[in-house]
Amino acid sequence: MTDFHPRVFSGVQPTGNLHLGNYLGAIKNFVALQDSHDCIYCVVDLHAITVWQDPQELKQNIYEVTAAFLAAGVDATKHVVFNQSRVSAHAELGWILNCVSRIGWLNRMTQFKEKAGKNRENASVGLYVYPNLMAADILAYRATHVPVGDDQKQHLELARDIAQKFNHDYLGENAPPFFPLPEPVITGAATRVMSLRDGSRKMSKSEPSEMSRITLTDDADEIAKKIKKAKTDPDPLPGDKEGLQGRPEASNLVGIFAALSDRDVDAVLTEYGGKQFSEFKPALADLAVEVLAPIGAEMSRLLDAPEHLEAFLADGAARADAIASPVLSKVKEMVGFST
Ligand code: AMP
Ligand code: TRP
Repeated sequence: MTDFHPRVFSGVQPTGNLHLGNYLGAIKNFVALQDSHDCIYCVVDLHAITVWQDPQELKQNIYEVTAAFLAAGVDATKHVVFNQSRVSAHAELGWILNCVSRIGWLNRMTQFKEKAGKNRENASVGLYVYPNLMAADILAYRATHVPVGDDQKQHLELARDIAQKFNHDYLGENAPPFFPLPEPVITGAATRVMSLRDGSRKMSKSEPSEMSRITLTDDADEIAKKIKKAKTDPDPLPGDKEGLQGRPEASNLVGIFAALSDRDVDAVLTEYGGKQFSEFKPALADLAVEVLAPIGAEMSRLLDAPEHLEAFLADGAARADAIASPVLSKVKEMVGFST
């Protein structure tokens, strides 16, 4: 696969409540990859509507995710930032890949089961084929690397299976592949940030309790309050990683500390091992405020001038389209469409 141009693609849904998990699991890594790779970062609005979204709120949330990318340090002039629905290749390739992907493959997707819940009959068909559209997002740019949180690993494996089957079905066994097999980039000390109220649940946008997550728009007081109230256990912090076994809340807070300070968990425990949460939590709150408050402030500055965000998105869409269009044309030709 060495002959593919290295290219990064990732997406975030504009569904509100962008949180610390989104930042540490994804957006922070988007920024880190920019120096070494060509990057495309997408606000995936087509994915968002797999669950009902209020149209006015959706529009605002598209701006919010765009602002978060920029405020976190994504360079939208050197790289590409846009919203998915503006580039028709996503939906078009998505359809073709719906015909490559298998029902049996989708039936294994745990995120669908979680999101559809008990009333699966009433979930949208879009929610079911969501991973095929995600594969199309990535493959439309023949992207090679995909930075995501741990919860997207299974979707990435499916994207690789789809790429492989497309290559096989349209080119045969021995021809050089048309699509690369995209690699997940799941890095950092907090690839799965857990709820602050329950260490067994993922921090999520849709959890009813606001105390379960720190959002990117929380101010310093809110950040400090949520960390102070975060669930813990009564023991002091252990001296090494092994000591975090069976302590999900402690593990989560230490992981967050490590990721926010760009250290590994062992380094944090070397400093805080033996200390009580009454000492650790204020240090974590200070660190979180130091990292997140400037991002929140910059987001609100950007959101005050949506016309600028609009201009970034329009420009990004034109540049994304210029990359995806030729790929889609080639796919259409390979499939046998008259174009
Ligand atoms: P979403 O909000 O579902 O569009 O997710 C956007 C990105 O954030 C994806 O790469 C997710 O894997 C990542 N992400 C979402 N929740 C978490 C979490 N609790 N911990 C780490 N990464 C997360
Ligand atoms: N499914 C991802 C999520 O919910 C968002 C997403 C859509 C994505 N398309 C993508 C992520 C392509 C990486 C690459 O988090």
